[in-house]
Amino acid sequence: MVINENVSLREFNTFGIDVSARYLVAIDHERNLQKALVNAKDRALPLLVLGGGSNILFAQDYPGLILKNEILGTEVLKEDQDYVWVRVGAGENWHQVVLWAIDHGWGGIENLSLIPGTTGAAPMQNIGAYGVEICGIFSHLEAIRLDNGKVRKFEITECAFSYRFSAFKGPLKDQYMITRVVLRLHKRPTFNISYGAISQTLEDMGKQELSIRNISDAVINIRQSKLPDPRELGNAGSFFKNPIVSKEFYYNLKSEYANIPSYSTQENAIKIPAGWLIEQCNWKGFRDGAIGVHDKQALVLVNYGGAQGADLVKLSSEIQDSVNSKFGIRLAPEVNII
Ligand code: EPU
Repeated sequence: MVINENVSLREFNTFGIDVSARYLVAIDHERNLQKALVNAKDRALPLLVLGGGSNILFAQDYPGLILKNEILGTEVLKEDQDYVWVRVGAGENWHQVVLWAIDHGWGGIENLSLIPGTTGAAPMQNIGAYGVEICGIFSHLEAIRLDNGKVRKFEITECAFSYRFSAFKGPLKDQYMITRVVLRLHKRPTFNISYGAISQTLEDMGKQELSIRNISDAVINIRQSKLPDPRELGNAGSFFKNPIVSKEFYYNLKSEYANIPSYSTQENAIKIPAGWLIEQCNWKGFRDGAIGVHDKQALVLVNYGGAQGADLVKLSSEIQDSVNSKFGIRLAPEVNII
C-alpha cells in the first residue's frame, strides 16, 4: 500500500478538473483500508472516498487523504430457481458489471447500462435510469467505518433509498466506505421498457426480440445520443436532480406553461425534468470559455478543457437563480461539490 503525495486529480474525476490531493491511496482490499485509516488517524487527516469520480466536482485542492476505491471481484453468493445473489467489489466499473450480468443471462440492471462510475457509488446515490433504480435489485452491502475500521453489513431498509438518495448521502455521510455490494439478479428476466424511448429505439435499431442484451444496446444508444462521453468532454452526467413538487404547484405552472413535461412519483407529487426548466431559461448550448451547458441535454454541465471547478460552481448557481426566478423552483445539485 503506497500513499502518494500531491497527486493531480485530473484523471480521477470525469469533469477533468485539474486540482490536486495532498495524499491519495489506492485501496484494493479491506485490510489495506484498515491500515490507511490508522495512518490517517495518526496524522488527523480529513478523508474522502473516491470511486470513478463521475459524480463529483472539485472546486479546490483537497487537503486530506483520498481513498480511491479499487476493490475488485465478482462472485456468486447463492442462487435459487429465480434469483442469483452476486457480490461485487465496490471498485468494479459499473458498466462492466452490467455487461458481465448480461453475459450470464441475469437481468435487472440492463436499463442501467453505461452509467459511468464504480459499483460502490451506485447504491450511494441510488443510481437510476430508464425506469429502473438500483434499489430494486439491491440485496445488501458491506462497508467499513472510517473512524474505527470496523466492517458492517447494511440491509436494504438501513440504506433508506429514495430518488438519487441513500443514508450514505444523508445521516451516514462521510462515515463509511462501501466495500462490497450484493445484488439480487433475475435468472428469468422480466423487461422494463416503460420508459418511452426504449421501445422506439429498439424499433429504430431493428431489434424485434425483447432481451436483456437488446435493452442494454438500446439504452447505450440513447445515452450516447444525449450524454457526452466524459473521455471526450468533461462532465458528471446530470448536474441537478429533477425537482419534485406538489400536484398543486405543478398544475399552477402548467396553466402558464402548457407543455411542461412531468413524471408522476408518489401520491401528490410530480417530478419535473430539470433539463426542461434549464432549457426554458435559455441555457442549453451556453458556453463561456472552458465551461458550458451541453447542447443536447441541458442538465449536463461541461468542461471544454482547462475549466476551474469554481467557475462551474458559479455557473450552476446562476442556473439555479434563473430557474428559481422564472419558475419558483430551487434546483438541488446531484453532484457532490468538494
Ligand atoms: N428535456 C428538455 N431539455 C433538455 C433535457 C431534457 O426539455 O435539455 C426534457 C424532455 O422533455 C425530455 C425530459 O426532459 O423528454 C426527460 O429528459 P431525459 O430523458 O434526458 O431524462 P432526465 O429526466 O433529464 C433523468 C436522469 C438521468 C437518466 C435519465 C433517463 C436525473 C437527475 N437524471 O434525466 O440520469 O439517464 O433520466 O432515465 O434523474 C444522471 O443521473 O447522471 C443521469 C444522466
